[in-house]
Amino acid sequence: MKTKITELFGIKHPILLSGMSWISTPELVAAVANAGGLGILATGILKPEETKDYIDRTRKLTKNPFAANVTLYFPGAEQNAKVIIAEKVPVVNYALGKGDWICKAVHEYGGKVIATVTTLKHAQAAQRDGADALIVTGHEAAGHGGAVTSLVLVPSIAEAVKIPIIAAGGFADGRGLAAALILGAEGISMGTRFMNSVESPVHASQKAISSQLDVFSTVYTNKVDGLPARVMDTKGARRLIKRKLNPITAAFLSRRIAKIVGLPWLKVAIGIMLMGPKKAMQMARMAEGFFAFRAGTMEGDNVKGVLPIGQITGIIHDTPTVKQIIERIVKEAIEAQKAASSRI
Ligand SMILES: Cc1cc2nc3c(=O)[nH]c(=O)nc-3n(C[C@H](O)[C@H](O)[C@H](O)COP(=O)(O)O)c2cc1C
Repeated sequence: MKTKITELFGIKHPILLSGMSWISTPELVAAVANAGGLGILATGILKPEETKDYIDRTRKLTKNPFAANVTLYFPGAEQNAKVIIAEKVPVVNYALGKGDWICKAVHEYGGKVIATVTTLKHAQAAQRDGADALIVTGHEAAGHGGAVTSLVLVPSIAEAVKIPIIAAGGFADGRGLAAALILGAEGISMGTRFMNSVESPVHASQKAISSQLDVFSTVYTNKVDGLPARVMDTKGARRLIKRKLNPITAAFLSRRIAKIVGLPWLKVAIGIMLMGPKKAMQMARMAEGFFAFRAGTMEGDNVKGVLPIGQITGIIHDTPTVKQIIERIVKEAIEAQKAASSRI
């Protein structure tokens, strides 16, 4: 397959692995790169020295291009972005923040930048800031998808910007890839599908559960980590949705955030307090969400923990290797296109 995305990044197939904390590790990213796609290393939970180690490990496992992401809203993201830039990672993906300085620095060494967006306003801002491509994430997605579904969001942004877009949220097979290309995207990015793969480090029990769920098994709420997010509908998710938080909890949790990102506690605490009470509460939720996501992802605990998962889990019924997933999607997309053209 040849699209603007395969040309831009020098990859074989227009298929990306989304940046997923604890999951998009060097091993999974390299598996996707070696199968001809583009894997995005997740650095949200990493300290700068761990980010450097992840990049080194990925380079040992693949000679193909790969990407690394930063969620600019999170404490510690700027430090990680600086490591990614210093290491000249071929593709940098940023979300939830202004990335003009990232675009400038990455372009200086010949790299490419993808901005992840969920609204038209942010898509246009990212284009102005110099992004080379966009990941457009619809409502179906695991984690922080937008308010609008991919079926509507993808064409609306595709016709409003000049840079190529990659559709995310609700894609797992060749029908989805063919549909995304028809809607005006140049490729797809998948989280839930790759989470349920042989190479994925998510807890084995979550892969088994993901293969059994239907499309109604998720919940979309801003009560888990403070931002609207889609997670598996479990006891753990319902518990977090009901809980009450106050600014004192936020101050206490800032200590745990500081530990995770390797920044001085005082710096994080002052930063959070300066955000004002509303944002401070959001940060408190984010810190709690962090521990819940870790328990859900790594321990398979759906009572203490919570697992981000997309609606597409309802049409995923197996746990293949990354190579099998990518090859199957490409084959199915070609078949889907032929089948559709005989009907259109
Ligand atoms: C288990 C899991 C963990 C995720 N963690 C993150 C994360 O840390 N940061 C992020 O921006 N998105 C995260 N996501 C969302 C993905 O990056 C992506 O936007 C989403 O999975 C795409 O939709 P899909 O699941 O329908 O493929 C996660 C998704 C899953 C399934």
